[in-house]
Amino acid sequence: MSQTNFDMVIFGATGDLSMRKLLPSLYQAHAAGLLHPDARILGVSRSQFDTAQFLAKVETDSKIHIKHHFSDALWASFIKRIQYLSLNVSEPEHFAKLGEVVKARKETDNVIIYLSTAPKFFAPACENLAAVGLNADNVRIVLEKPLGTDLASSQAINADVARFFKEEQIYRIDHYLGKESLQNVLPLRFGNVFLEPIWHKDFVQSVQITIAEQLGVEERGEFYDITGALRDMVQNHLMQMLCFVAMERPKSLGADDVRDEKLKVVAALKPMTSADVDKNVVRGQYTASGSLKGYLQEHKVPADSRTETYVAIRAEVDTPRWQGVPFYLRTGKRMAARSAQIVLNFKPDAGSLFGSHANRLIISLQPDETVSLKWFVKQVGSGLNVAPAEMVLDMGKAVDGRRAEAYELLLREVIDGRLALFNRRDELEKAWEWVMPILDNWATSPVPPHGYPADSWGPEAARKLLARDGNLWVEEQG
Ligand code: BG6
Repeated sequence: MSQTNFDMVIFGATGDLSMRKLLPSLYQAHAAGLLHPDARILGVSRSQFDTAQFLAKVETDSKIHIKHHFSDALWASFIKRIQYLSLNVSEPEHFAKLGEVVKARKETDNVIIYLSTAPKFFAPACENLAAVGLNADNVRIVLEKPLGTDLASSQAINADVARFFKEEQIYRIDHYLGKESLQNVLPLRFGNVFLEPIWHKDFVQSVQITIAEQLGVEERGEFYDITGALRDMVQNHLMQMLCFVAMERPKSLGADDVRDEKLKVVAALKPMTSADVDKNVVRGQYTASGSLKGYLQEHKVPADSRTETYVAIRAEVDTPRWQGVPFYLRTGKRMAARSAQIVLNFKPDAGSLFGSHANRLIISLQPDETVSLKWFVKQVGSGLNVAPAEMVLDMGKAVDGRRAEAYELLLREVIDGRLALFNRRDELEKAWEWVMPILDNWATSPVPPHGYPADSWGPEAARKLLARDGNLWVEEQG
């Protein structure tokens, strides 16, 4: 059990994220006995509910998302923690009431404010929180993405929040950092003596980082169309995966040591000119295929939209470790399979007695959590002929224990006040800086996104991007 008692105030409590992820995650932690018995959750939003009406909504909209260990008794004890307060973010007097409710509880020191609202509400929310003292040192604030739509808007959001909260109070969420298998990259690399020496340009020929989704944009067409895959996935989730793969060994596992190393990776990404973007970035948009709609036929998507549902980038990390090694990053909706993975393609051994074979390491985050290494082993029979063989470490089998969802893990980190798995301002803004030439190029480019059929591996242009270097995406490799 966590010894940390807390009040968690969720802004946007009636919204999708709160219902689908935050409340179910808090339930899971509760069911596992990980929440302090007196910890309390205070939902706030504009909806004119009382606590009973809010709980009725939680019952219908949130309970269905609980995947494990549901029991009526645990649920009954969980919802006793929840209270609701109707609040308009722009009304200072509503915050006076919030302040009273929170401060009425003398027994807890820790207050967590989770802003699960559109970023335009962050500034008034922070200002009004500060006016009632809810920015004191015992208050942590959690910011949900999207944190901006470009560098300038991201800087503006960060500056607004920084007027009222110190950096060490700010927890910027990227739920990929809550995934066990991404965190596992650090012990794999820095906790096993044999991997780190070959995790290097002398041995690695190329790196591929993929987040492929089978789903389309579903009911989120309106949001997605002004967002696109670059802002939705590349600037944040893919960037975090890249950092874990490319970073140097941090001095310690302390938040700033880890984040310093991640920042160095983002800062070392080779900047792109507009001509580089034309050459090294492919944007795609899914088209109808079989029974699947194309992006332009999705609900609330304009028929002439140029929003990308797929991005592939050939990037380079300009550090002594990685000079010259291409990093291929890609993400897409309506891809042929759901998969998030990191692939290291090793160089073939020039002096090999067994032909020119290349080893490959795949770290899969989802759907399976595995680490697979492709070896070359002797074929049975006479002669020393070799054949490829896969050695698979299945993390689910390798280590016991309940595997919590990303949001649950991250909420527990916030509760315990550990910042390592949250983005620091400088890191986030550097990432925006790097993607800006891509956004700028696309804003004026006469070339529309490349079409790719729904349920495929993306546009032909993305295949060519690798073919140019003599490489193949992993699904085409043997
Ligand atoms: C979110 C994006 O951040 O990540 C969604 O907004 C995307 O568009 C989701 O579907 C993917 O997360 P996961 O954990 O399912 O890979």
